[in-house]
Amino acid sequence: MSYRIKDLSLSPQGKRQIEWAERHMLVLKLIRERFVKEKPLEGVRVGAVLHVTKETAVLVRTLLAGGAEVWLAASNPLSTQDDVAAALVEEGVHVFAWRGESAEEYLWAISQIAKSGPNVVIDDGGDLHAYLHDKERGIAERIWGGTEETTTGVIRLKAMEREGVLKYPVIAVNNALTKFLFDNRYGTGQSALDGIIRATNILFAGKKVVVAGYGWVGRGIAQRARGLGARVIVTEVDPIRALEAVMDGFDVMSMDKAAEVGDVFITATGNINVIDGRHIEKMKDGALLANAGHFNVEINVKALEELAVEIREVRPYVKEFKLKNGKRVYLLAEGRLVNLVAAEGHPSEVMDMSFANQALAVEYIVKNRGRLPVKVLTLPREIDENVARLKLRSMNIEIDTLTDEQRRYLESWKV
Ligand code: NAD
Ligand code: ADE
Repeated sequence: MSYRIKDLSLSPQGKRQIEWAERHMLVLKLIRERFVKEKPLEGVRVGAVLHVTKETAVLVRTLLAGGAEVWLAASNPLSTQDDVAAALVEEGVHVFAWRGESAEEYLWAISQIAKSGPNVVIDDGGDLHAYLHDKERGIAERIWGGTEETTTGVIRLKAMEREGVLKYPVIAVNNALTKFLFDNRYGTGQSALDGIIRATNILFAGKKVVVAGYGWVGRGIAQRARGLGARVIVTEVDPIRALEAVMDGFDVMSMDKAAEVGDVFITATGNINVIDGRHIEKMKDGALLANAGHFNVEINVKALEELAVEIREVRPYVKEFKLKNGKRVYLLAEGRLVNLVAAEGHPSEVMDMSFANQALAVEYIVKNRGRLPVKVLTLPREIDENVARLKLRSMNIEIDTLTDEQRRYLESWKV
């Protein structure tokens, strides 16, 4: 068996972590019970590039239960939980991931997943899809289909589709309602603040928190920061979303203005240089900068380094930059996903739905092998609704069903 991880002896601790996550992932448990009986993934090789966390391990166990062979690498050089990686190796998974990979090691690990010759690929952020289309010849053509976990990855895949280079169908799991409405909003809303708090132990109450981007992630962060007593400012480029933030009761202004007043800055846009050198120069002494978007491009770290006369690590995942103007600003988690680097990512309960969609998307690709168009696809609505139903069931919540009379009424139009 091939693998490369930090330390196999961490496996018992990793196993306990996975068991803890499993207790909170009841939808995946139900899917796994069915997979054990039906074996829908028998003989299927799944190549996955995901954050290697205890929640991902529960997804991997589900795929194994369905009969799959799994190859796994990290979707971020700093997000791997090394104990979980060790436990997965002991369970027969080919894992190539450790916390603190260099840029070259990160790509090398992804290349191992590509070279394994997967039938189905799962990606978070699009680096595996891009690698398979750009750096390898002859592998992508044989892939039955893929999935994509996050907004940034879906944007990249749509660009590939537009340019006519996409080689296999991809299900945009991110776009399932039971994914983005919950994971992006409530998952990141809680875990991004969790990451900032674990790294700094700051009090949010009374702070001016600037949230860049009022998409699903930004909405969640703004809502949760307000819940902790912060005064929240939103920055946007989309007039409709900016207006929505205003009507939701947030202050909305340009980043140039917000830079002067904010105490904590959290980017959630999926875009580049949203906090740039000119903004950093205007910031107050002590400003904290964190990113919740997929890539470490939202805060211009190079510009920050160029503005600094002194840089030192003051706590784990907190770097102090003393600027030429005498002020100090603090960069958290190197500008990478603060929730996965400085905390543990989303809570298991929310990953339960995201990864239920992933497991069902893989099953759907296998069942429909050769019949799906080579496009970026949405999961069928029945699968999405089924995930919601199972989640409600796992929470012991019953809902009403339409009576025949109500259904007829809703389908009628005559006066
Ligand atoms: P989204 O498309 O719903 O929202 C992004 C918002 O950012 C949009 O409203 C857009 O108008 C705005 N925006 C773009 N450029 C901007 C700029 N220069 N200034 C201000 N606003 C700008 O996307 P989303 O689902 O909210 O995801 C945002 C990012 O978070 C993506 O990179 C996604 O992959 C990532 N993500 C991270 C996690 C995590 O665990 N940290 C979870 C889910 C998604
Ligand atoms: N993305 C956000 N949180 C995550 C988690 N806990 N596991 C895997 N991927 C994630």
